[in-house]
Amino acid sequence: MKVINTIAEMKEARHKLRGSVGFVPTMGYLHEGHLELVRIARAENRNVVVSIFVNPAQFGPKEDYASYPRDTERDLAMLKKERVGIVFMPSAEDMYPPGYSTWVDVEKVTERLEGAVRPGHFRGVATAVNKLFNIVDPTRAYFGQKDAQQLVVIKKMVADLNMNLEVIAVPTVREPDGLAMSSRNVYLNPEERKSALVLYKALTLAQKLWNKGETNAGLIRKEMSSLIQREPRAARIDYVSIADAETLEELARIDRPAVVSLAVKIGKPRLIDNIILGA
Ligand code: PAF
Repeated sequence: MKVINTIAEMKEARHKLRGSVGFVPTMGYLHEGHLELVRIARAENRNVVVSIFVNPAQFGPKEDYASYPRDTERDLAMLKKERVGIVFMPSAEDMYPPGYSTWVDVEKVTERLEGAVRPGHFRGVATAVNKLFNIVDPTRAYFGQKDAQQLVVIKKMVADLNMNLEVIAVPTVREPDGLAMSSRNVYLNPEERKSALVLYKALTLAQKLWNKGETNAGLIRKEMSSLIQREPRAARIDYVSIADAETLEELARIDRPAVVSLAVKIGKPRLIDNIILGA
C-alpha cells in the first residue's frame, strides 16, 4: 500500500495506473461503513484509491473541524488489511494554498436540510470532491447513502459538469441495533448512545406506515416527530423530511421515490440518518 501526501505525487501515481480506478473519498476515522465502500470499490475495479482529508472548507466556524476525530495510524492499518493500493492524504495547504479562490456551488439541492442548517457546507464538500476527482481521475467513486443529501449534491455536480466518472451509492451500514455508523458516534456517551437509537426507530416507523399503505407524508412526518419528542435526550430536532429522492423537494404525498431523512441533536452531538421509500 502506497501512502501519498502531495497532489503532484498522486497525479504521477495515477498516470501509471492501468485499468479502472475505484475511489473512496473519506475524512478518516474509518469504520465499517467506509470499509464497505472500499470492499465494493475493490470488487468493481482493478485499482483502489482511498483519500483521507479532513476538509476545512466544509466545516462552519462553530463546527468541529479542530476536534474532528483523527487516527491516521489506525486508518492506515485498516486500509492495508483491505489491500488498498493507494491512500492519498493531502495537506490542507496543498489543497487550499494561499490565494485559493475557486469554489463549486451546486444550487437548489443544497438549499434545504443540511444546507439550511450548515451554510457553506456543501460548497466546501463539492469543491473538495471536485478537486479530488480532478487529481485521482477515478472511473467510479463510492459514497455512503448515510449522507443522502451529499450524494444527491455530488451526483448533480457530476451530471452538470459532465464529469467522466460513475457515482456509486452504497447502502448505510448499521450497528446491530440499527444505529447508522458514523465517525461522529464517538462523541456519544453511553446514555446518549442509547437515546441515539430514536433516529432509527423514527425511520422504522416511517417504513412501517409506508408498508401499510400510508402515503400522506405530512402524517408520517408528524408521527416520526412525536416519537422523537418522547425521547428526553433528544435536545433538538433540526428537521424531519420526506422529500423527492432526486430534487429533495418536500413531498405532500409519497408518489415517487422519496428520501426520509432526519437530523436530531442527542445531548451535544448532532446525528443524521435516512431511508429511501418507494425506490
Ligand atoms: O463524507 C465525507 O466524509 C466527506 O464529506 C467527503 C465526501 C470525503 C468530502 O470531504
